[in-house]
Amino acid sequence: MPRIITVSSGKGGVGKTTFAVNFALTLSRVAPTILVDLDTGTSSIRNTLDTPVNRDLYHFFRKGQPLSDCLTRLDHRCDPHNLFSNFSFVAAPKHSIEEITNWSDQSRWKLVHAINQLPAKFIILDLRAGLDANVIDFLPLSNSGILVFTPHHPAATLAAGDIVKSVLFRKLRFIFSSDSPFFRQHGSMAHEHRLVNDLLDQVEDVYEEGLSSLDDFLEDLQNSLGDNPYLKAITNVVHSFGVYFVLNMFDGVNESYETAVKPFVQYLTENLSSQLRLTNLGWVVKDEAIHEANCARRPILLQNQWRKTVVETDLDPIMRELAKLETSVLGLPKPQEAPDTKTPEDVLLHISDQSPLDRQLEILNSMYRTQGSLQVRNNFAYLAHRALHIVRSLPADTFGQSRLLTPLEIFHKIFPHTPPSI
Ligand SMILES: Nc1ncnc2c1ncn2[C@@H]1O[C@H](COP(=O)(O)OP(=O)(O)O)[C@@H](O)[C@H]1O
Ligand SMILES: [Mg+2]
Repeated sequence: MPRIITVSSGKGGVGKTTFAVNFALTLSRVAPTILVDLDTGTSSIRNTLDTPVNRDLYHFFRKGQPLSDCLTRLDHRCDPHNLFSNFSFVAAPKHSIEEITNWSDQSRWKLVHAINQLPAKFIILDLRAGLDANVIDFLPLSNSGILVFTPHHPAATLAAGDIVKSVLFRKLRFIFSSDSPFFRQHGSMAHEHRLVNDLLDQVEDVYEEGLSSLDDFLEDLQNSLGDNPYLKAITNVVHSFGVYFVLNMFDGVNESYETAVKPFVQYLTENLSSQLRLTNLGWVVKDEAIHEANCARRPILLQNQWRKTVVETDLDPIMRELAKLETSVLGLPKPQEAPDTKTPEDVLLHISDQSPLDRQLEILNSMYRTQGSLQVRNNFAYLAHRALHIVRSLPADTFGQSRLLTPLEIFHKIFPHTPPSI
């Protein structure tokens, strides 16, 4: 089953594209990987890779070419030893073309359908900044994809939090919309239904006095209605929702904790819930060499001296440390214990007594013990192997997604037993 992993940040300039390109290159050493540039206004990926592009999204949208014919492989100059032959990318058009930069709904679903058909194990989507439909519709339903933010950009941390909020509320709104099967099933509870939607409005709208988080909301619901199907459904959605993030331009545990992780976790706890499953995937240090490599259109992992990272590094010690970290600190099951047939809700999640903030600090420290002594160039190897470990440990759709869903498919995903006519 493919894993489609979206990389987003809410804000621009935090290193989304830098991360997406190098992450995809690393994953391609393990399995076929396609990187898709969905930041169609800036054509950033083609500007980062010094490789001629014959066909891109222009040919897909305007010339009717299949998306799988619009793939570009690295040419000899970028990959002289053919080490990344499993990597290809779909470039955005050379310059902005209004119709392609701002897709219509119809174009977007055409693209979604084509991305779902791409022949790769990993499909990495580099999203644009912002929170419009051209971002939200590519984000997973049950997790955040990968969020990139940086200790150097406080507004980016809050923008990443807003992505989590948008995805979570999209799912809750689906469940509690008046034409949802949930509503039909519990339609006799019209009073409860109105109440749930009113309370959701209050949580979502930060200008409104009243409930500020989904935790308060659940408590309120419990107090006014007692145990009921609404409470159960919302609790399930919130407690099984996964947030995965990467810190770019990392500058040490304390600095990153104080200026990025802490405000991020506080935002989520205060506005959404303290029960979300937060996973810090790792970090990329701030290094001028990374920036220079981008400017030279040869990403850092394609530079001679860095290529070794993903090709020659002995990954066993990293993997051993990761296995320990995942089971002891993050509480993930061992890979073989989590068959793909389980739903995210079935997976036994480690419930910690610690506050979400203490937990994140402990994770940062544990990762630093593992990673701090590693060479800068191993950051991407670490991140990719952590992602692989999670892919192997958790059921499909807990991290990334197995396919992008249309609204109708989302409906059936949430309510699998609904007859197709509804
Ligand atoms: N870890 C890093 N160290 C140094 N410079 C970086 C790093 N990550 C990104 N940059 C630089 O920051 C700028 C923004 O990065 P980019 O990946 O284009 O961000 P985004 O896709 O979020 O807009 C670029 O000039 C890039 O070269
Ligand atoms: Mg970008």
